[in-house]
Amino acid sequence: MSRRLRVARARRELDVFLRELRAEGPIGFVPTMGALHEGHLSLVRASVGECARTVASIFVNPTQFGPGEDLAAYPRPWEEDQALLEAEGADVLFLPSAEEIYPAGPRAFIDVADLSGLLCGAFRPGHFRGVATVVWKLLQIVDPDVAYFGSKDAQQAVIVRRMVKDLFGRWTIRVLPTIREKDGLAMSSRNRYLDPSERAAATVLFRALAEGKRVLESGERKAGMAVRAASETLAREPLARPEYVALASLADLRPVEEARGDLLFAIAARVGKARLIDNLALRVGERVEEILP
Ligand code: PAF
Repeated sequence: MSRRLRVARARRELDVFLRELRAEGPIGFVPTMGALHEGHLSLVRASVGECARTVASIFVNPTQFGPGEDLAAYPRPWEEDQALLEAEGADVLFLPSAEEIYPAGPRAFIDVADLSGLLCGAFRPGHFRGVATVVWKLLQIVDPDVAYFGSKDAQQAVIVRRMVKDLFGRWTIRVLPTIREKDGLAMSSRNRYLDPSERAAATVLFRALAEGKRVLESGERKAGMAVRAASETLAREPLARPEYVALASLADLRPVEEARGDLLFAIAARVGKARLIDNLALRVGERVEEILP
């Protein structure tokens, strides 16, 4: 059922809406940077199904972009996004300006230091500090009962969970499965940057992960062998410029030598103008099972 979506650009305006919504039961929150796709919409659907009211935010957070990254070019199809949120039954969209979130400029930060320099963090210095800071601010502002995140950004999900746990946040963090195109490509706002040949090449991230998983399924437990199989698949795609392939512990994101327990098989590569990431969270024991990060 579609409900009318109300848009708040200022915190004060949002507070008025939130007072009303809170009286009606638990609030679910879906933070986004917009350019919404099925991955985001699956989070909105979960919130609408599980909570009395749903708030989404669209904020292209400057502190999580490094110099030379795509902050200015990041797609901002906000009218289309609003229509999608309304059709899914979201109640409120928080659409703040940078001044609303960083009134005095970015000054105080949250850094989950032992996790934020690993995997993608090694290639995007400061990125996860920006993410943790803005997510903490948004959680403080909206103060939801449940906040929803996608598994495609597994490192982000692990960092947000750890931040909320270590800083005694009161919010429940729910992490939901990656939504994929039919050919396996993980949905991402950055897929919009791909031309048709790059779009075809971009499936190599998922194919590489699937190849690494197949190695584990064959009974191999040397992490290096699975990483090598994935890396070789990635290297065969001339349009992909690999950044990393890693098999890491899901608990602390550090690379493992022996592939056992709850693991994150993570990959990042540049294809054309897009930096793409993908991952599989795996429970490796006798068998290999996909899990949520
Ligand atoms: O995953 C994203 O879109 C962003 O990193 C988030 C969580 C909205 C913070 O800016």
